[in-house]
Amino acid sequence: MAPNWKRAIIVGASGGIGEQIARKLASGGCRVALVGRREDKLRQIAVDINGVSLNLALPFPSDVRDFDAPAAKVEECVRALGGLDLVVYSAGVMPRIGPTEYETAKDRLIVETNLIGAMAWLNPVAKRFERAGGGTIVGIGSVSGDRGRRGNPAYSASKAGLECYLESLRNRLGRRGVSVVTVKPGPVETEMTRELGRLPGMIPAGRAADLILKAARKFGKTAYIPGRWWLASKIMLSIPSRIFRRLPL
Ligand SMILES: NC(=O)c1ccc[n+]([C@@H]2O[C@H](COP(=O)([O-])OP(=O)(O)OC[C@H]3O[C@@H](n4cnc5c(N)ncnc54)[C@H](OP(=O)(O)O)[C@@H]3O)[C@@H](O)[C@H]2O)c1
Repeated sequence: MAPNWKRAIIVGASGGIGEQIARKLASGGCRVALVGRREDKLRQIAVDINGVSLNLALPFPSDVRDFDAPAAKVEECVRALGGLDLVVYSAGVMPRIGPTEYETAKDRLIVETNLIGAMAWLNPVAKRFERAGGGTIVGIGSVSGDRGRRGNPAYSASKAGLECYLESLRNRLGRRGVSVVTVKPGPVETEMTRELGRLPGMIPAGRAADLILKAARKFGKTAYIPGRWWLASKIMLSIPSRIFRRLPL
């Protein structure tokens, strides 16, 4: 049976895909805790969702690189929402990396935001859902995590690591009734990709959010967003390294 989420935490809800997911969940009556660093953006989105009388969206400003915060923050969100059914980890960064740039500070920012922040938020959620015997966790990987691309080594590595971490969570929690879903979008029009212009196969953030929520309704799934990236990825994975390294990716 498809889950009927009533209370959700969206980490990375102040823009892009996370914001769209929060708006779509709220439009179906789900209460949403909005997490991100930009408090003004979170408040503005909450006001917009709530209109004059509803109390569906609640802002919870937090930096995912503050790794000690989530245990208490998750509890705070759960108290305010009146329970918890779904958590989407959509926080992420992809700073531009030059072709001859090797900058540990940037790599650290990427890995801490995209991977360790996810672990810090999803560990207390996993514990809670395991105890409750149910719940849905959604993590946003990327087609970029399928292979070690030249363009942004740390970003590819962070997404490959996130996918592996989510698979481990799925293998632990699936038998306890908890669904862990990995979604792997191709290019999506958001702040993250603004400077890159129009990329092949790019879709609007609202469309990505619809497809992600559809995939999240299927228990313990890994899904490419949109589905055509599954075939593209199979082809990409079959390319020998000596050819792959010449591709402008
Ligand atoms: N756009 C694409 O083409 C694409 C493709 C595949 C996968 N993805 C993945 O999809 C996810 C969402 O990306 P997007 O395109 O929606 O990017 P976006 O528009 O730049 O939004 C990123 C979100 O992450 C939050 N965030 C970043 N650093 C944070 C921090 N330290 N603490 C808390 N929140 C933080 C931002 O909020 P604050 O700035 O307010 O903190 C914002 O809400 C990311 O994981 C990205 O890697 C995107």
